[in-house]
Amino acid sequence: RLPEDVILKEVGPRDGLQNEKVFISTEDKVEWINQLSESGLSYIEVSSFVHPKWIPALSDADEVFSKITRQPGVTYSALVPNAKGTERALKANVDEFAVFMSASDTHNRKNINKSIEETFPVLEEVADEGRKAGKKVRGYVSTVFGCPYDGKVAVSEVKKVCDRLFSMGVYEISLGDTIGIANPKQVDEVLRELVNDFDADRFALHFHDTRGLALANTLAGLNAGITTFDGSTGGLGGCPYAKGASGNAASEDLIFMFEEMGINTGIDFNKFLKAASFIEKALGKPLPGRQLKLLEGR
Ligand code: HMG
Ligand code: MG
Repeated sequence: RLPEDVILKEVGPRDGLQNEKVFISTEDKVEWINQLSESGLSYIEVSSFVHPKWIPALSDADEVFSKITRQPGVTYSALVPNAKGTERALKANVDEFAVFMSASDTHNRKNINKSIEETFPVLEEVADEGRKAGKKVRGYVSTVFGCPYDGKVAVSEVKKVCDRLFSMGVYEISLGDTIGIANPKQVDEVLRELVNDFDADRFALHFHDTRGLALANTLAGLNAGITTFDGSTGGLGGCPYAKGASGNAASEDLIFMFEEMGINTGIDFNKFLKAASFIEKALGKPLPGRQLKLLEGR
């Protein structure tokens, strides 16, 4: 049975921009986020408090947080990788922390410079400090459906990482198909195994659309009882430490699919498209989302 409502978490300002070569000005980021805030979204991942040398596109995270207009009812979150990130995120008064790691060791090392085992105590400290300051803590597990370095990833490895993250007090884990390699049958199988051990409402799905299967995988997720999905405006995005990783599922395409299926998102489609057009113009290149293509007659 399909749900009546879903939550769409917009990760474009973070995942969408982190891989872009063009530096989007702080002013344009702020304007885009403000437009997104007006669209009815309840959650926006604004930026990352990671090392600015690792992700130069988001080196202005502190400034972006200080300049956005926060709407009531909208959660403004950011990635927080370690103690230094925690310090910065607290200073910026982010609403929610997102900790992140991978289910495969090589991607974890390439992305955050530590083995999986070495990562747990670091994230535990981030989660503790965040919760002490009254922040909710979300978790990401990357490479759930395949790793660009290690290949297939066993569900038992995913479970192990989820178990550790939940025991740190993470309220929800977003399962990442980092390189867009999942297929709907696999999504169904992996989720069946995970919901044996954890409740379905503790998971979100984070699909990248590298091979065009993000919407099909979303449907498989819906059918398996998942009701929270990450999307990125216009299908922007990708992880710079996963070669070939392309954009996330385009948020407008997700909104369209959900609403056409009678599933409420609470988002104003036209306002969202306006925000998408704004950032597309600022980037100076056409974005892959289908609804934007249609709007522009491309
Ligand atoms: P490191 O070099 O191992 O850090 O990087 P370190 O702890 O050894 O510190 C080295 C120096 O960096 C020190 O400075 C620190 O202060 C500084 P020094 O004392 O030498 O002058 N430093 C920092 N400065 C500012 N902010 C910080 C910070 N931390 C240390 N937070 C680190 C480790 C985690 C920082 C680095 O590897 C990093 O920034 N990685 C981020 C990579 C990233 O953002 N990847 C993309 C996001 S994940 C993703 O896209 C997947 C996802 O979308 C889900 C999916 O699709 O699967 C979430
Ligand atoms: Mg991602």
